[in-house]
Amino acid sequence: MKIVVVGGGSTYTPELIDGFARLRDTLEVTEIVLLDPDVQRRELLAAMADRMLDRAGHPAKVVPGDDVAAAADGATAVLFQLRVGGQAARARDETWPLECGCVGQETTGAGGFAKALRTVPVVLELAEQIRAVAPEAWLVDFTNPVGIVTRALLQEGHRALGLCNVAIGFQRFFAELLEVTPERVSLGHVGLNHLTWERSVHVDGRDVLPELFSSDLDRLAALVRQPRELITLLRALPSYYLRYFYEHDVVVDEQRHAPSRASEVAAMERQLLELYADPSVDTKPALLEQRGGAFYSEAAVALVASLVADRGDVQVVNVRNDGTLPFLPDDMTIEVPAVIGAHGARPLPVSPVEPGLAGLVAGVAGYEQLALDAALRGGRDRVVAALLAHPLVGQWDVANRLADRLIAENAAYLAWA
Ligand code: G6P
Ligand code: MN
Repeated sequence: MKIVVVGGGSTYTPELIDGFARLRDTLEVTEIVLLDPDVQRRELLAAMADRMLDRAGHPAKVVPGDDVAAAADGATAVLFQLRVGGQAARARDETWPLECGCVGQETTGAGGFAKALRTVPVVLELAEQIRAVAPEAWLVDFTNPVGIVTRALLQEGHRALGLCNVAIGFQRFFAELLEVTPERVSLGHVGLNHLTWERSVHVDGRDVLPELFSSDLDRLAALVRQPRELITLLRALPSYYLRYFYEHDVVVDEQRHAPSRASEVAAMERQLLELYADPSVDTKPALLEQRGGAFYSEAAVALVASLVADRGDVQVVNVRNDGTLPFLPDDMTIEVPAVIGAHGARPLPVSPVEPGLAGLVAGVAGYEQLALDAALRGGRDRVVAALLAHPLVGQWDVANRLADRLIAENAAYLAWA
């Protein structure tokens, strides 16, 4: 089977290759195409991937390229992990919102909105080219903001699913804590991408989350970096992205006094690229584990394997709502456990969501709809409308100031600006 990786020159690629190599019995990959407009990066990562597969005795060949149509021909799945504007654009997303007193984050708030505006047109253009030659290929989107990008793809009728590693990270964490295999842990994971809570953790059919709230609250609180009392009050474990909401002003203050995540990542990337250029390096470097994308490869391999083999197992994905959360429009993209098979993903039923959680989800969903509208049609007014709807912005004056900064910082990437 042929797999195409859009953004194959990413420093994350060895994570994915490591997954293909370790899980070779789950997914029989024969060809991996690493697409990237940066010729040096794609050649470098292809050579590194080749060495990793050789060492693992994996037969797949790795092909670097930049021709999407040629690459997609015959592909089973296309994984999107591109980053429009690279880490430099991310650094800006994490910085200018702070000037308006708002969190600087690559997927949440105004920074995430800027990323959506840069990314959606590029992904849609690529998806069209892929569909023209490989209408059956599955598009798996790991490119952020995953909720908005996946919705854009689904709205255009693509065979797309959105993927994030937050859920698989929790599953692996609970499995280790409870000393069971990950397959025995099922999460009551609900919300939108990067706006999710675990409302239950079932092991062999029994919900152990209430017990964990008594026995391991400190560890859980440290994991998601939020107060113990907040977690017990919610009776659900928020993902660490909820910290940007529940402790917004604290985070803004921290961010004003600390180097950005983008600068930390840039330093790590320089070291990673040096390692990848060393012909004696043929395994995934430990340094890569300090990136946020841990377990991304396992989630991606498991997803493609179930789509192809029509397995019918349950995985957490970004999928069309279709009534699963009745307080959201059907065409909203939500992040929930779903049955994965040849048909795609079918969400499992979700018990009624508590008002505090549902309210926030609905608010962000409103923003996401307007954000996608702005990404597709452009215009300052649409940018202001989306920011005004965002629960972390909401004020007219702030929305206008953010809109001007966003457009100024991203003009090179916005066809309409
Ligand atoms: C998590 C998120 C990803 C995000 C990443 C950032 O994995 O699920 O969506 O891209 O963190 O990690 P980084 O190391 O780039 O800060
Ligand atoms: Mn994610």
